[in-house]
Amino acid sequence: MASREETHFGDQTVPLADKQGLVDEVFHSVAKRYDLMNDLMSAGLHRPWKDALVTAVNPPRSDKEFALLDLAGGTGDVAFRVVEAGGAGTRVTVCDINTEMLAVGRERAAERGHDGIVSFEQGNAEELPHADRSFDCVTIAFGIRNVPRIERALAEAYRVLRIGGRFLCLEFSSVDVPGLDKLYELYSFQVIPRVGEAVTGDREAYQYLVESIRKFPKPKAFATMIEAAGFRRVAFKAMTGGVVALHSGWKL
Ligand SMILES: C[S@@+](CC[C@H](N)C(=O)[O-])C[C@H]1O[C@@H](n2cnc3c(N)ncnc32)[C@H](O)[C@@H]1O
Repeated sequence: MASREETHFGDQTVPLADKQGLVDEVFHSVAKRYDLMNDLMSAGLHRPWKDALVTAVNPPRSDKEFALLDLAGGTGDVAFRVVEAGGAGTRVTVCDINTEMLAVGRERAAERGHDGIVSFEQGNAEELPHADRSFDCVTIAFGIRNVPRIERALAEAYRVLRIGGRFLCLEFSSVDVPGLDKLYELYSFQVIPRVGEAVTGDREAYQYLVESIRKFPKPKAFATMIEAAGFRRVAFKAMTGGVVALHSGWKL
């Protein structure tokens, strides 16, 4: 077990202070091919998983104002889905630490005509540049396991949510279906790093991504962390045999 000043970077134990820089290198390296790799690695499954997240966000279809903060929102995938599902009052702020991922996101937003509806800003999920109680909903998809101090990110999500607002987190989880677990392990460790190397030229980045999935807390343990941050009615739903889980909690 890592000491207080150490943490996991994939399978490696590294000083806590070094993890963010290592994570930033990974996403710097893969940013331009990130969306293509998402489709390849998940065989397109990231789409229905994100659709389930957007259904849970449930943005108003009317012109009622609805402000969503998408943490670690990268190239804007979740943000675009939310504004396309919501009405004229829906606005999304994508906050990510990595300027390369944000640059790809801005380009995609312009292509889709979402300028002014989706905004992109650089920020650290552990130390958000937003006022208390300024969002109706906070989401984070496939981002939380990359954040070195998860407790701080959860506390920040809680702080910036208005009372009655909801936190939703989509993340890889632990496969709990006998047979599927072995197949998933084989696919993760034998196939993904090779495909990652072929498409992005960076095998190490994808080795980290699969290792970081294995190191992420089990769903019940993560639900306890969300509760510890102050959220109530915390729940989670496993999808695709536990490949991913959608956690949620309310600020009441
Ligand atoms: C796997 S990508 C997910 C992107 C997007 N949410 C999606 O589902 O397509 C993880 C993202 O987390 C971002 N990230 C890592 N550490 C972060 C931090 N401390 N604060 C904000 N974003 C962070 C990375 O830059 C990267 O864009």
